[in-house]
Amino acid sequence: MNRDEWKEKLSLIKDSFFSALSQPGPDNAEALKVAYLGRKGELSLLLRDLKDFPIEERKALGALGNALKAEFEAALDAKAGVSGRFEARDKCAEDLTLPGYPFPKGGLHPLTVAAAKMCEGFQKLGFSVADGPLIEEDLFNFEALNFAPDHPARDMQDTFYVDLKDARGKDLLLRTHTSPVQIRTMKNTAPPLRVISAGRVFRSEAVDASHSFVFHQLEGFALDRNITMADLKWTLDAFIKDMFGSSAKTAFSPSFFPFVEPGAQVAVSCVFCPGSGARCPVCKGTGWIELLGAGVIHPNVVRNCGYDPEQWSGFAFGAGVERFAMLLYGISDMRTLYENDLRVLKQL
Ligand code: DAH
Repeated sequence: MNRDEWKEKLSLIKDSFFSALSQPGPDNAEALKVAYLGRKGELSLLLRDLKDFPIEERKALGALGNALKAEFEAALDAKAGVSGRFEARDKCAEDLTLPGYPFPKGGLHPLTVAAAKMCEGFQKLGFSVADGPLIEEDLFNFEALNFAPDHPARDMQDTFYVDLKDARGKDLLLRTHTSPVQIRTMKNTAPPLRVISAGRVFRSEAVDASHSFVFHQLEGFALDRNITMADLKWTLDAFIKDMFGSSAKTAFSPSFFPFVEPGAQVAVSCVFCPGSGARCPVCKGTGWIELLGAGVIHPNVVRNCGYDPEQWSGFAFGAGVERFAMLLYGISDMRTLYENDLRVLKQL
């Protein structure tokens, strides 16, 4: 082989290399590397042929051959880089047009649903919604609601006190009920008023199937001229029928709360054992389920909020949201509502 033949061969190898390299296929680069640059590769063999050439020609042709070798290596590296990227893409998503993985949707907690249902029931009757703080002053949580400082009625509500004082130097507390919203709203807004408010309340109580140190209440009240117990009875009866169906009956029995006079305990006819009753675990055979406290707003409370009780009167009620949620979902242990076990919540 003379010098020109060698050069001709080099040029053929170059053409066939680049034409092979342009073919698609991820493993192409590796195969070409062996076929051209491997120990028995075409370019390697051609370079080895140079040993028979005179020294000057060997140098010149060797430089050409080595330049082409570098060119092949660079082209192979570039191709390997590209196919590497394709491979990574192919591994993570074979078809980028397929829909994505489903993302689990959350749902509202049963307590949220129960509170919203209760609020809706009263909104339909013309009540609007108010809010109040969780950390309260003694004035709003007790005093203005007609709990005298040493009155034993305060013992009904074991209170968490906060290590902070209000403007009068009294200990702040975690509200024990939602009734302070009555005072705050009456002091800030002119009657006629029809207002509800739902939220968390706190009492220092041991946790069991029907008690917790944090629970939820829905408060409601009306203040207007000539409001009587009859307005309260009609309103609660309409609400209870809306929640439990038109056959639900409402019973009022006398009870004591310092901020109402008269005060009542309100019960609904058992929704689980219509009629029979004797062994019903919910009403314990009485046929009635206690739902809430209510009454006609005490004249002292009306006065404490700046109104003349001869001119203005009202009714009020307070209900446990947990109690409603348990009845609506048929839950017998209140702790179910706080444990947040998704296996349970998903069934509700
Ligand atoms: N605040 C009372 C409690 O937590 C419930 C209550 C009773 C609220 C009678 C009222 C009411 O508005 O009139 O025990």
